[in-house]
Amino acid sequence: MKNDLKEIEQRESHFYDSIYNTYDPSSQIVNINQINWPPFNFVLDYLGDLRGKRVLDCGCGIGWCSVVFALKGAEVFAFDLSEKGIEGTKRLAEKNGMSRKIKAEVMSVYELEYPDNFFDIVFGNAFLHHIDVQKGGKEISRVLKKNGIALFIENSANNKLLMWTRRNLLGKFGSKRFGTEDEMPLSEKEIKTFGSFFKKTDPHYPNFVFFQLLSHHWILKGEILEKTLKGFDNLIVKIIPNLSKYSFEQVAVFLK
Ligand SMILES: C[S@@+](CC[C@H](N)C(=O)[O-])C[C@H]1O[C@@H](n2cnc3c(N)ncnc32)[C@H](O)[C@@H]1O
Repeated sequence: MKNDLKEIEQRESHFYDSIYNTYDPSSQIVNINQINWPPFNFVLDYLGDLRGKRVLDCGCGIGWCSVVFALKGAEVFAFDLSEKGIEGTKRLAEKNGMSRKIKAEVMSVYELEYPDNFFDIVFGNAFLHHIDVQKGGKEISRVLKKNGIALFIENSANNKLLMWTRRNLLGKFGSKRFGTEDEMPLSEKEIKTFGSFFKKTDPHYPNFVFFQLLSHHWILKGEILEKTLKGFDNLIVKIIPNLSKYSFEQVAVFLK
């Protein structure tokens, strides 16, 4: 692997170790009937019955998505660069009675230790925009079965106004910046590069996220404000559905 990728990986694992260190997943029970996050609900609806399916959760973090898939009957494999993330995933799996259904390991996406054509489904939440999509795409496609599905809940660089705001305002004027210096919202070009390892690429925008970002990143706080901004986003996209592709959130689906 190229040195610069190794350095990026070191920064990633260091950063996420420090984040996951502050969680206590041992106290969290996951309720699959109370999932209320549009892109994840979209993924679960899209995948349907997971019983008997072998699912890979890429960059699993502390493994909350892995636990949902396992509770829905899948046999789950999960990997992340962060040791603290994998420790958290194991604890969360145990707390939810899913230890035997989730195999979580510290691993890099560029050197996956799974056989060829092994998974029915590959999933990642907020993962693709952290990696080199050319190298990662090749590995992920290798481990996915023929006719298998790969889905990723991602941010998006489609909206030039949001990208301008990110470049020029984020981290200033009281706004919060999350994540590492290496990550960038996922561009159409990256989706195309990743998609070159699959027979079909299908981006979806189940949730229009635009004004609500003000309450995520800015000092504009409070549940009522957040709900109002969400309502505003929902209204805008209802009036002009073509705007949906400018959402900051997308679900990229790839078929092998
Ligand atoms: C934004 S977090 C998302 C975590 C998790 N999917 C979730 O839903 O909470 C991105 C994760 O990708 C992991 N990651 C980044 N680059 C990676 C790589 N090259 N190989 C494996 N994991 C990686 C990070 O350690 C981090 O846990």
